[in-house]
Order: sequence, then structure tokens, then C-alpha cells
Amino acid sequence: MIDTNPLIVALDVPELSEAVELARRLQGEVGYFKIGLELFSAHGPETVTAIGEFGDVFLDVKLHDIPTTVSRATRQLGRLGVGLVTVHALGGKDMVAAAVEGLALGAKGHSGPQPRILAVTVLTSLSDADLATVGLPGAEDAVLELGRTAVGAGAPGLVCAPRDASRLRQEVGPSTVLVTPGVRPAGSDSDDHARAATPAEAVAAGANYLVVGRPITRAADPVTAARSILSEVDPA
Ligand code: C5P
Repeated sequence: MIDTNPLIVALDVPELSEAVELARRLQGEVGYFKIGLELFSAHGPETVTAIGEFGDVFLDVKLHDIPTTVSRATRQLGRLGVGLVTVHALGGKDMVAAAVEGLALGAKGHSGPQPRILAVTVLTSLSDADLATVGLPGAEDAVLELGRTAVGAGAPGLVCAPRDASRLRQEVGPSTVLVTPGVRPAGSDSDDHARAATPAEAVAAGANYLVVGRPITRAADPVTAARSILSEVDPA
């Protein structure tokens, strides 16, 4: 039996009311609600408080700036009560360390588990040529290098594609949280993911959390869709 719910539902909708309605329906069914740039840009911090009424919030804002600026931003996000926040590992070890420190400072005074920084290794939209322009090796090696650096800087978790999870797991060991998007239920449409993995494949590769959006948010019955995805991971 899984002991924590590994499902993160991406609330990629433009209207806060729509996101809140989805979160209300899915309360207790998923590990985190992921708020992305679209909702956060439209509705700001109110998004976190509104969705936070129904469960833990993963704020996917992929911060990337100088360490001081990122630290000051994550401090504010920590105050809001987020559970997970993304930064780009490409921002460097000092920036990742600053993000971790800022988030912890901001969360002081909040009860409950410590919020965690997740470092995004390599965006799947970047080509090897893009990576070469910033002096990085091909995507496969860059993922390992960036993952190792971010964990060394104190990041408790990483975001990676399912296909990179198993090598990354070997690289960073068992205690780092690995989060993989690009997950699709067995036999379903992969939408725009070039290499989608099933929930069982992603977990077998070492993922602790699976990000799934449209297969749940666009389902006629999101609760049944979420339960069905979880049953693929944990038939018990
Ligand atoms: O609807 P779907 O399951 O494709 O949503 C996936 C979520 O994961 C989206 O919020 C998207 O921004 C995010 N994501 C992704 N692929 C990546 C990185 C992040 O789909 N490589």
C-alpha cells in the first residue's frame, strides 16, 4: 500500500472559480493541487489561499533569478502556506540554496509539514542545441548534472521527465523526492506529450509523485478519473 497519495493534479484552467470547483470535488483524493503560471498570473496569492482550503498546494512558478530575489520571493510564498514550489536548477546552486532558505523562513509560524523546493532539471521543450548554448551537455547528462547540483544545494526534490527518473534516482539516492509530469493512464490519449509514461511506469522508474492534469480535469467525473489513476499505481 502507498502511504502518501502520489497524485498531483494540475489545475490548468484560466478561472479561479473553475479551479476552486475542481479542488472542492477532488478534496481528499489527491496529494497536491498544482497551481501553474496561468492561474497565478491571473489571480495571484488569492489562488493559494482559495485552493489551500481543499488540500496542499504545489505552486509551479519555476523561479529563476539572482539568489537574493528568489529568496525574497520564496519567503513570501512560504508565508502564503504553499507546500511545494518549483525553481529552475539552471539558476545555480546558490540560487537553489537561497530558495530553500527563503521558503523555510517564510513558513516559520505555519504548523504542518515544512514546505519543499522542487528544482526543475531540464525543460522537455529544450533541445540539445539549446543546452549547448549555455554550456551544458546533451539533455540526458544535463538532467543528472543539474539534479545532483540542486540536491547538493539543499533541494529536497526534483522535477524530471519519466524517462529520466530511474537514472536520476540512482544519481541522487532514495531520499530525494522525484516528481514527474507527462503521465497518462494506460490506454489513454497522450495529448501533447511526446513520450508519456503510465502511472505504474513512472513509479517503477522511481517517481514519488505524478503530475496529471487533463485526464482528470477534463474528465466527466474527475474523482473517478483520479481514483482510477491511483489504482494503476496501487491496486491494493
Ligand atoms: O494536462 P497534463 O497532464 O499534460 O498537465 C501536465 C502538467 O505538467 C502541466 O501543468 C504542465 O505545465 C506540466 N509539465 C509538463 N511537461 C513538462 C513539465 C511540466 O506537462 N515537461
